[in-house]
Amino acid sequence: MTSHGSSASNGKFGPVRVGLLGIGTVGGGTFEVLRRNQDEIRRRAGRSIEIVKVADLDVARARAIVGDAVEVVADARGVVEDPGIDVVVELIGGYGIARTLVLEAIAHGKHVVTANKALLAVHGNEIFAAASKKGVMVAFEAAVAGGIPIIKALREGLTANRIEWIAGIINGTTNFILSEMRERGLAFDAVLQEAQRLGYAEADPTFDIEGIDAAHKATILAAIAFGVPMQFDKAYVEGITRLQAEDIRYAEQLGYRIKLLGITRRRDGSDGEPPGIELRVHPTLIPARRLIASVEGAMNAVWVKGDAVGHTMYYGKGAGAEPTASAVIADLVDVARTFTSDPENRVPHLAFQAESLSDTPILPIEAVQTAYYLRLRVADEPGVLADITRILADARISIDAVLQREPAEGENQTDIILLTHRTIERQIITAMARIEALPTVLSKAIRIRLEDLV
Ligand code: HSE
Repeated sequence: MTSHGSSASNGKFGPVRVGLLGIGTVGGGTFEVLRRNQDEIRRRAGRSIEIVKVADLDVARARAIVGDAVEVVADARGVVEDPGIDVVVELIGGYGIARTLVLEAIAHGKHVVTANKALLAVHGNEIFAAASKKGVMVAFEAAVAGGIPIIKALREGLTANRIEWIAGIINGTTNFILSEMRERGLAFDAVLQEAQRLGYAEADPTFDIEGIDAAHKATILAAIAFGVPMQFDKAYVEGITRLQAEDIRYAEQLGYRIKLLGITRRRDGSDGEPPGIELRVHPTLIPARRLIASVEGAMNAVWVKGDAVGHTMYYGKGAGAEPTASAVIADLVDVARTFTSDPENRVPHLAFQAESLSDTPILPIEAVQTAYYLRLRVADEPGVLADITRILADARISIDAVLQREPAEGENQTDIILLTHRTIERQIITAMARIEALPTVLSKAIRIRLEDLV
């Protein structure tokens, strides 16, 4: 690793020399905020933080952003192998070349700051092991919920707590779409097209709308909250593409909003079910009176329940140039502060000491415990509701609320909406199969999970 000697212009210590991989939206924001707030940041970090080299395939665009004072190269290896660079900021994204470059930067003894949630959720265990071996940091505040300092909150501010659960709106694109669907009564496809036109959603929005981006972030939160390795492959992932405007409307009539939540919860076995960790992303009904239900548009929020602190909630912008830059630079300052500290005793990557990670399993979705919203298309005949409620009672599933839409004039079928109390998912699967087999139930039920988190 390079040395960090004293320099007159930076007070006690020389500058932190940063190499940037990728200078798109977040890279440009990072450059601008570092420039604008350089005095403030130097006073906080104890030394200046200077971007000295940028690698980007679009050299002309990169040069237009950083000017002549910063070296610009097309080949990222020119950054990760450069002995004059202390910290590599990876803003390329994805699991491919980003993984190779991060591992190479670590191998060259450089600290890494990354906003890449996909990379960490899938390859984080390998990357952290390499970093620990080499005595360097991999910092990733920007990877979850953009500008919200949730990683720091969990790893440091809440470190006294046994975390019970985390529920987060951690994808702005889908929250924007759900807000628009609810407020304007529009269908998913129409809102998605508008979101793309306005630049909220990517041209290929698959990772957002299918819940994959939120699951990457939830995987990182679960690892930090419960001290388990990254296990993205065990996460249950369901996006919002099948959500219908009428379910948003019915939910509202019952006093609920539907949000795409990333949920991770510790299950200790006290209910007779096997202990483990729930890790899931899916559309979720939440009571409209809860604070998190008011998080609208592209905003993010993370709600954490700790045994000592109780409920805490963190709200802010989950994307965008300067909000994400805010998190990237916070990591750079953290790295700068640790230059003079013992590598063995820094804040651990996953909050728990590497040798103390737990093998508590991530539970399969069938073992998850939650409540449900059920919508059934039924024949408008006597006894239909009685048949349905009997099957639920046989499965020991308790009903919380029932709503039946009055059939229109001349219509011989209608919708029945049921809210259940909490149950184990495998019980509702069995009960729904029996309900859907009833001759008076006319189509497959709509089933959306419901959480009244307390
Ligand atoms: N696509 C992400 C979102 C951006 O919509 O929240 C930040 O990770």
